[in-house]
Amino acid sequence: MMKPSTPENEQTRLNSLKSLGILDTPRSERFDCITRMASRLFQTPIAIVSLVDENRQWFKSCIGLDTQETHRDISFCGHAILQDSVFVIPDTFKDNRFFNNPLVLSDPFIRFYAGCPLTMSDGSKIGTLCIIDHKPRTFEAADITLLEDLASIVQREFVSMQAENSATQFKSTMNAAFDAIIVMDKNHRVVSFNAAAEATFGYKHQDIVGQDLLGLIIPTRHRAAFKQSFEPYINTSQGPLIGQRTEIEARHQDGHEFPIEVAITKEKFLVGDSSSVTFVGFIRDISERKLAAAQIIQASKLATLGEMATSVAHELNQPLSAIRMAAANSRRKISKGTFDFQYLSNKLTRIEDQATRAASIIDHMRMFGREAKETPEPVDPRNVVKNSLDLMGSQLRLAGIEVVTNFSTNCSYVLGHIIQMEQVILNLLTNAKDAMLEQDGKSTITLNVFEDDVGVHLTIEDTGGGIPDAISQRIFEPFFTTKKIGQGTGLGLSVSYGIVHDMHGTIVAENIAEGTRFTITLPSFVPQHQLNIK
Ligand SMILES: Nc1ncnc2c1ncn2[C@@H]1O[C@H](COP(=O)(O)OP(=O)(O)OP(=O)(O)O)[C@@H](O)[C@H]1O
Ligand SMILES: [Mg+2]
Repeated sequence: MMKPSTPENEQTRLNSLKSLGILDTPRSERFDCITRMASRLFQTPIAIVSLVDENRQWFKSCIGLDTQETHRDISFCGHAILQDSVFVIPDTFKDNRFFNNPLVLSDPFIRFYAGCPLTMSDGSKIGTLCIIDHKPRTFEAADITLLEDLASIVQREFVSMQAENSATQFKSTMNAAFDAIIVMDKNHRVVSFNAAAEATFGYKHQDIVGQDLLGLIIPTRHRAAFKQSFEPYINTSQGPLIGQRTEIEARHQDGHEFPIEVAITKEKFLVGDSSSVTFVGFIRDISERKLAAAQIIQASKLATLGEMATSVAHELNQPLSAIRMAAANSRRKISKGTFDFQYLSNKLTRIEDQATRAASIIDHMRMFGREAKETPEPVDPRNVVKNSLDLMGSQLRLAGIEVVTNFSTNCSYVLGHIIQMEQVILNLLTNAKDAMLEQDGKSTITLNVFEDDVGVHLTIEDTGGGIPDAISQRIFEPFFTTKKIGQGTGLGLSVSYGIVHDMHGTIVAENIAEGTRFTITLPSFVPQHQLNIK
């Protein structure tokens, strides 16, 4: 008896067989009907779909045999898978390789065998469709063609099993993903909507498939802008939403709005016989992240407020002393009887003015402590710097620092939250002041606000000796500080970076002659009516 040899591509062949996930599965009508057909057409008592595993041949479908598997060493199919075409043994008794094979000498007493290899798309032959008889037979060319045709039906079943397996894997991967994954066609109609998408947006897959996605999850006021950024991508594969994560507002089925981070890719999917373009959106609900970021901003802001307490006390002291002086002088004149109404009226006006100034400082402090509003508004960048100096000017003067401002007269507004922007400037001013505290000689902070083709720039320069090269890459990291414990949280620059980034701007630091220059660049705000005129 001759044992079948092992094919050269045995490992690939076994991988291919295993990946089908068919071994040791129950009988199935899709294969049983083919073995029934083979047995009937060829008039053989036995027909088998046999799969050649590492050490055995296992029968997925079998007519006329009770066994489920036999050892590979004695198998006929082990030989058949080494062939490129149908392997035929007309009479086993007359064949040196098989005459003393146990399957010939005992049950099932094979005299005739014909097996067509079952080939997978990668060329691996994983088994056979074979027919067996207890008597010798001749097998003509037409019989070979017929067996090949039946084998090709088995192969097609394998292909469709593979497709079903990948569909199941795709579906469970989609549904196991933490991110919402939405597949849509070029008309934004939903093709697929995973479990995370259901949880994020509140719609059920079956209710949303086929619907216009943009109409459902993008708030009405953003829809036109979203379409505008999405449409060019359909043809050019380029646009602001593509290949990068973008933050936008989305709408839940119950109507509430929440921030999401979205990235879209363009894919070609095979639908039927033709491939069609689809878009896959990877979406993450970032409400919690935003909330946490807002809480950090708020914490850092309160820390800044604490730091500013001395400065504010000094700032309030000025109007209060002016009020006290005006009141004392007036009282003295009244008690001496030397007052006139004009004098008293002037003093009362001064008291009123100074009280208003004190109230405005307190108002500002209160406003600064509040959390920022949801939607950004147009803000004059020069006012941001002025307000910040109102709050910190005396602290800087007390520290012997000269403050120089250069505001360009023509400067666009920027879109943001004035309080958050003030927070950025206050952080930069505090850093500049801290850097210059240990410096001898003249300390100057220069603030410039100007606009060019790129946008609006705010720069803050100090004479504090600059940022050492060794730490320059790390200064924007949260909690990075070179200050002593209790003197710095290391959040100032990272929070400022976040605020500027949210405004679609940049903030960079560079060393200049005597110190550091921080430059904030923000997109100029162009009001809608001016856009329409263009
Ligand atoms: N103008 C500057 N000159 C020199 N070094 C600077 C300057 N601005 C920032 N740095 C360096 O960057 C580090 C990080 O600054 P950041 O504002 O993030 O935190 P901090 O000032 O240390 O603490 P916090 O602002 O939270 O109180 C500082 O500790 C300092 O070493
Ligand atoms: Mg700081």
